[in-house]
Amino acid sequence: FKDASKLFTSYIPPKLPHRDKQLRQLQSFFSYRLKFPQVVQLEGPAGTGKTSSSLLLATMLKASTKTLYVNLKVYRKKFLMYKALLEQVEPDAGLKIRSYSPEELLVYLLKTISKDHEYDYLFIVDEIDNFIKGGDTSVVYELTRLNEVFPGERLNVRGVIFISRDPEWRDLLDSAEKSSLGALIIKYDRYTKEQLTDILEYRASLALKPGTYTDEIIDYIADVVAEEANSDVRFALDVLYYSALTAEREGAEKVEIEHVRNVVGYLVPGLTSEDLSLLEKVEMIGLLSIAYTLKLRGEPYVGFLDISKVYEETCRRYGLRPNIRTLENTIQKLHDLGFITFKGIKRIGVNVPLDKLINFLETRIESEI
Ligand SMILES: Nc1ncnc2c1ncn2[C@@H]1O[C@H](COP(=O)(O)OP(=O)(O)OP(=O)(O)O)[C@@H](O)[C@H]1O
Ligand SMILES: [Mg+2]
Repeated sequence: FKDASKLFTSYIPPKLPHRDKQLRQLQSFFSYRLKFPQVVQLEGPAGTGKTSSSLLLATMLKASTKTLYVNLKVYRKKFLMYKALLEQVEPDAGLKIRSYSPEELLVYLLKTISKDHEYDYLFIVDEIDNFIKGGDTSVVYELTRLNEVFPGERLNVRGVIFISRDPEWRDLLDSAEKSSLGALIIKYDRYTKEQLTDILEYRASLALKPGTYTDEIIDYIADVVAEEANSDVRFALDVLYYSALTAEREGAEKVEIEHVRNVVGYLVPGLTSEDLSLLEKVEMIGLLSIAYTLKLRGEPYVGFLDISKVYEETCRRYGLRPNIRTLENTIQKLHDLGFITFKGIKRIGVNVPLDKLINFLETRIESEI
């Protein structure tokens, strides 16, 4: 490695190969303040560069525009979401707004913003599909009609970007919400294997010393990820990172195919280190317990009671004290994040390969101890 962090999925590279078109479109929508805030949607499968390109746009506009970003995967209530946005302009707003309704909070946020005569603001609302599936669609109406909050005034908001994977989220909106959302959609298609190769080559050149990897390795990773993980760049970066890490720990001169094979053998597509970073250790142990229970039972679903027994043992093994309430919260969170399927208190399951999941979680939990 020369700089391992350049392979982290949280790193936003200064360039995004094969996303020129989308970036150009984004710039054309947000480079100037128009009469009304622009509403634009980004849409496409996992790991296609939606979040990164919106944040790259934010850095491009930084001389004139501040960006407020929220990922709705982690906020399930409108109040919490508006609070998260507000705290980016007023970090210690917490106490003052405690008794506000979500709507009052939004008005307060806009008021605060409008006091800033130097900058415009851009809202990025990521993973909106997740939130809408929770049932509260009013946020779309509110964020697409910002200009109606203070009639007659011109708001210093450039616009709102909604990011989603699943186009079907729009079907859950009512007709007024749909119409104010509009139809400016920028599409992100899955990368082809060749595009994936270019992207990996680029990220490898930022993170690894020259001569420590070959075209053959990059090509092989692109191949595997295109076939087994729907070309998800996030997964590809994980594979490259862990392969290089293994090579370095072994004291090898460069990354070999065998390192990659090994890593592919235990990484779980659809469960990347970025996803896992959203979990506390005790939550990883909860997920691991569900996996153990499913394996023990050999059935597609298991019940809460069975899980809780396994959970007690697993917690002890890792030196934690089991707590049923924590397990309950963990299951809720795992469900919200899409790690498990929950079809009732007696029907809890996962949809990734169990052995891989167990192996992966055990390695992660143990390496953090
Ligand atoms: N064209 C690209 N060039 C370089 N890196 C890229 C490119 N596209 C994606 N990446 C990297 O892949 C990772 C995942 O991308 P990103 O988070 O933007 O995906 P996403 O479309 O938002 O996916 P999701 O729907 O799962 O949130 C990031 O680390 C990002 O930097
Ligand atoms: Mg994203």
